[in-house]
Amino acid sequence: MKAIKKLCMLALLLMVPVLAVASGAEGHLDKAPVDLKDKVSMQRGAKLFTFYCLSCHSASYMRYNRLKDIGMSEEQIKKDLLLPEGAKLGSTMPAAMDKEAAKQVYGVAPPDLSVITRSRSPDWIYTYLRSFHVDSKRPSGWNNVIFPNVGMPNVLAELQGEQELKVEKRDGHETKKLVLAKHGSMKPAEFDTAIADLTNFLVFVGEPAKLVRYNLGYIVLGFLSVLFVLIYALKKEIWKDIH
Ligand code: HEC
Repeated sequence: MKAIKKLCMLALLLMVPVLAVASGAEGHLDKAPVDLKDKVSMQRGAKLFTFYCLSCHSASYMRYNRLKDIGMSEEQIKKDLLLPEGAKLGSTMPAAMDKEAAKQVYGVAPPDLSVITRSRSPDWIYTYLRSFHVDSKRPSGWNNVIFPNVGMPNVLAELQGEQELKVEKRDGHETKKLVLAKHGSMKPAEFDTAIADLTNFLVFVGEPAKLVRYNLGYIVLGFLSVLFVLIYALKKEIWKDIH
């Protein structure tokens, strides 16, 4: 017993530095309001993704017809996501731009985004997409607070507008603040909701089976409730004569 306790303590102690590194490296992240039960939000996210991201990034683990899981009909998938003529619903989501060509232009090849919410985190994606700011020193004209010197330009600037980074020095402390210098077509709160939708969709893309598991959970709970009623009735029947 004592040995087990010691082992548990050792395991806990070993985890402490890992946790410390994980939280220290990321900086401040906003909490992504992920809700995998909100299919309409994921559908809006799918539209944003195909309009604004698929030009450079692929989602090679996701097939178009899998979007039926978030409540889209074949018609909607073809029409709302502007599927190119002749594209098959069973195909995965390729990037429009060739990887090598993109590397030439942006310095880094845009990575596949299939499992990005798992390799980073939903909070990281939600914060990253809202943390771009203008920076004339960068080749793209953009920089990002949580991904310094990123190769990706702010492709959502027409929606968000342009943020500037203000650095204030007070009592030797530096505080960085993003200020909206030029408005986009969306109000800040609208833009946050759009990014929440996009993050929600990317969480689904990262683990589509999660939705199936949710449904399975309800079926199991339903089965257990029926079983409970039957067993309770059986118990009453058995004890009837004894009481
Ligand atoms: C114009 C091309 C382009 C478009 C469009 C684009 N990106 Fe990117 N993106 C890039 C490039 C290039 C990188 C690599 C940046 C680097 O490593 O410096 C990148 C990196 C990223 C990363 C960081 C990946 C990592 O973990 O290193 C995420 C997340 C991301 N993009 C999400 C998106 C989303 C979501 C959209 C759609 C709203 C989008 N991108 C649209 C070019 C693009």
